[in-house]
Amino acid sequence: MISTMTPTLLDELHELAAQAAQNAYAPYSGFRVGAALRLSSGEIVTGTNVENVSYGLTICAERSALVRAVSQSGPEIRIDAVAVANLNGQPSPPCGACRQMLAEFILPEAPVRFPAAEGMRTMAFREMLPLGFELKLR
Ligand code: THU
Repeated sequence: MISTMTPTLLDELHELAAQAAQNAYAPYSGFRVGAALRLSSGEIVTGTNVENVSYGLTICAERSALVRAVSQSGPEIRIDAVAVANLNGQPSPPCGACRQMLAEFILPEAPVRFPAAEGMRTMAFREMLPLGFELKLR
């Protein structure tokens, strides 16, 4: 929740995302991204973008972190904060595909901190994906 997540914690999460971006594999775009997810357990999981010569196979930093988190800690995880960083000094909010993937595991009020045109910006996840796809199974 934004109210319980101090700016310091989000800054630390952003720093971990920036460190993760050092491991980016981005020979095609040169755009090096890192993401850090904080789970309700307190665990922090990072990821980076991994590109492919078949460009469409590229995975973003946010989704790398997400699949790592589920692989490590299982399907019951809940994400309570996200930070994104890039080493290019550019805005990089999570892309639409990453938002839809995050929606599966993230708390609606979780703060998402990312580089924006005006500097670092933080917003609640529910504001980022107001009409995400949902499937109500019978
Ligand atoms: N990228 C991310 O890692 N996260 C996003 O949310 C958007 C884009 C990566 C994918 C690709 O390797 C590079 O940035 C340029 O699109």
